[in-house]
Amino acid sequence: MAERVRIEPIETFEGFEKLLDIQRAVWDHGDLDVTPVHQFAVSSRMGAILLGAFVGRELAGFVYSFPAVFKGQLCQHSHLLAVLPRRQGSGLGKALKLAQREEAAKRGYRLITWTYDPLQARNANLNLGALGAVSRTYVGNFYGLTPSLCLGPGIPTDRMLIEWPIRDRRVRARLEGKGKKRPAHDAGRLPKALERRAGGEAPFFRPARPRLDLDDRAVLVEVPRDIKALAGRCDLIAEWQKGLRRTMTGYFGRGYRAWDFVCGDRAFYVLIRD
Ligand SMILES: CC(C)(COP(=O)(O)OP(=O)(O)OC[C@H]1O[C@@H](n2cnc3c(N)ncnc32)[C@H](O)[C@@H]1OP(=O)(O)O)[C@@H](O)C(=O)NCCC(=O)NCCS
Repeated sequence: MAERVRIEPIETFEGFEKLLDIQRAVWDHGDLDVTPVHQFAVSSRMGAILLGAFVGRELAGFVYSFPAVFKGQLCQHSHLLAVLPRRQGSGLGKALKLAQREEAAKRGYRLITWTYDPLQARNANLNLGALGAVSRTYVGNFYGLTPSLCLGPGIPTDRMLIEWPIRDRRVRARLEGKGKKRPAHDAGRLPKALERRAGGEAPFFRPARPRLDLDDRAVLVEVPRDIKALAGRCDLIAEWQKGLRRTMTGYFGRGYRAWDFVCGDRAFYVLIRD
């Protein structure tokens, strides 16, 4: 029988301490990089949302956000989402985000923001595909050259900033699997602003030169399907990052936003201009 999953607030020091172990297991963080117990203790008394996913009695993952302001709007900024490696891929991450949304809505929020590495296709698929969040902000080297957050030595910590307008009709429809036909469904026919160069041996493809002058309503931007498969090939990771940074910055500057994600044998952002 499948084990029962509960999502519950984490409010005790014993709970906060377990979050250190989860961070170490998920990110391999050293002592300087883990978010510490005192941060969880103070912020959870001061408006943060801290929820754990329990499988049976085991704390298998958590999500953590704190009150913030984005473009003048009060929001929750989600700083950590983690599921133990052996529990990943079984629905816990999505369940945590849905519970975070519910709690934030209960407290009167309309927006949750967070950042993620846009070269991580799995996370893009969760954020833009499954949750219906959007992005129109690309920040180069967001956290500086913090080694534990870089994809390789000296590779900047580029991030996309996610906006999740949690009460929007579009988000509700996406979560319910309803709504208008998604442009992602026509992905094969859309023009590509960035894609892999022909030739090359999987998974070691190189990006082609970005096309920054497309004018279509929807365009695609490719990223490697699994960036972890490129571990050790910092030259390739850096090339993809440079191409993605140029492409996203260019299109966001022209009024496009990242609106959806297509994830099959290959992975693409869908950018839309309203
Ligand atoms: C990211 C993370 C929290 C997701 O949690 P999870 O429990 O593994 O994910 P779920 O099983 O709930 O899947 C949620 C969605 O992620 C996407 N996803 C999950 N695994 C995927 C994969 N291998 N490839 C592509 N998309 C994937 C899907 O969109 C999925 O939704 P769907 O099933 O409705 O399509 C988890 O993998 C993790 O802890 N990763 C390491 C830390 C991290 O990257 N944190 C987030 C930083 S922003």
